[in-house]
Formats: sequence, structure tokens, C-alpha cells
Amino acid sequence: MAITGTPGTGKTTLSKELRRMGLLVIDLNGLAREKGLLGEYDAIRDTYEVDTDLLDRELPEGEMIVEGHLSHLLNVDTVLILRCDPRVLEQRLNDRGYAVTKARENAMAEALDVILVEALESDAVVLEVDATTASVTDLARVVEDILAGEKVKYGTGNIDWSGVLMEWC
Ligand SMILES: Nc1ncnc2c1ncn2[C@@H]1O[C@H](COP(=O)(O)OP(=O)(O)OP(=O)(O)O)[C@@H](O)[C@H]1O
Ligand SMILES: [Mg+2]
Repeated sequence: MAITGTPGTGKTTLSKELRRMGLLVIDLNGLAREKGLLGEYDAIRDTYEVDTDLLDRELPEGEMIVEGHLSHLLNVDTVLILRCDPRVLEQRLNDRGYAVTKARENAMAEALDVILVEALESDAVVLEVDATTASVTDLARVVEDILAGEKVKYGTGNIDWSGVLMEWC
């Protein structure tokens, strides 16, 4: 299962809790760095190109959770997207020291459902949860629920940031 979402939506924070609960969670950014699979640096966007096919081959056999903002591009059965109100997300990214333009670019990507659209192009079951005000414990419960087979409750299409887009455009 992939746990994905726009930067700042809380993937790593949730993953720490999941590991504490005994689940195997792989940090995809860490794996890419460790295996020397970070490609070219894009100075304008302050990110690295990554070949997700190569990353896929580095994953161990068996069942696991993979977390990272590219994890929905791997060959996974289920994708859980953490969503966050773009206004809250922008604030979180600013607080993290992101450049103003990069914070807005990421918040805009969240408002435009960029990761959701990418994930829906795969064959995986795609689920999403609004993590704006959910605690880490709430989110860990969502993951447990999904691992136990719940799909309907977290189906896509219920999260809509178009009001924010209207404000911003
Ligand atoms: N459930 C939550 N509620 C409130 N704040 C949260 C929650 N989860 C994470 N945060 C805060 O949001 C910020 C980003 O969290 P985190 O690093 O887990 O995001 P991420 O999705 O892993 O980001 P990236 O893609 O850049 O690795 C942190 O400051 C963290 O404290
Ligand atoms: Mg992270």
C-alpha cells in the first residue's frame, strides 16, 4: 500500500506512528537516496527527478506500506492519499521554511487534485482521507481500517478544494 499526498500533508508523521504500531513502512525518499536513485536536481522547483520503475525494483518482497509523495507511482495494490486544506498546507510549508512560491505551488497542486489524478491513472484501488484536522491516531486508525478491508468509507470524490481555487484564481 502506498501512502502519498502533496508535501506537508503528514505522510512521515503518520508513518512514524504506524512503525510504532509494528507495521513495516518504507520511506521512499530515503530509499531513493540510499540506492543512489536521485536523478537530476531541478533548481527552480528544488526537487530531484526520480525514476519510479528503478525504485520499484528496490522494494523488498512481501507486504508493506511505502510512504512518499511519489509512492502512488509504484506498483502497489492500494493508494491512500492524505489530503489537506490548501490554505492550511501553505501555512505548514511556510512554517517549514519553504520559499513562498514553492509553498503556494504545492498548495495549488493540492487544490487541483494533482496526486489524485495521477493515482487514478494506475490500476490500484485509490482512497483518500482529509488529514487537515485529523490527529495522527485518527489517521493510523484509518490505515488499520483499510488494511482490514474497508474501501468504501475512504472512496475518492468527497474532498473538494474548488472553493480555495476560486479564492486564489
Ligand atoms: N495530522 C497532523 N495534524 C497537524 N499537523 C500535522 C499532522 N501531520 C503532520 N503535521 C505537521 O505537518 C508538517 C508536515 O508533516 P510531514 O513531514 O509528516 O509531512 P510529509 O507529508 O511527510 O511531507 P513531505 O512530502 O515533504 O515529506 C509537520 O510540521 C508536521 O508537524
Ligand atoms: Mg515526509
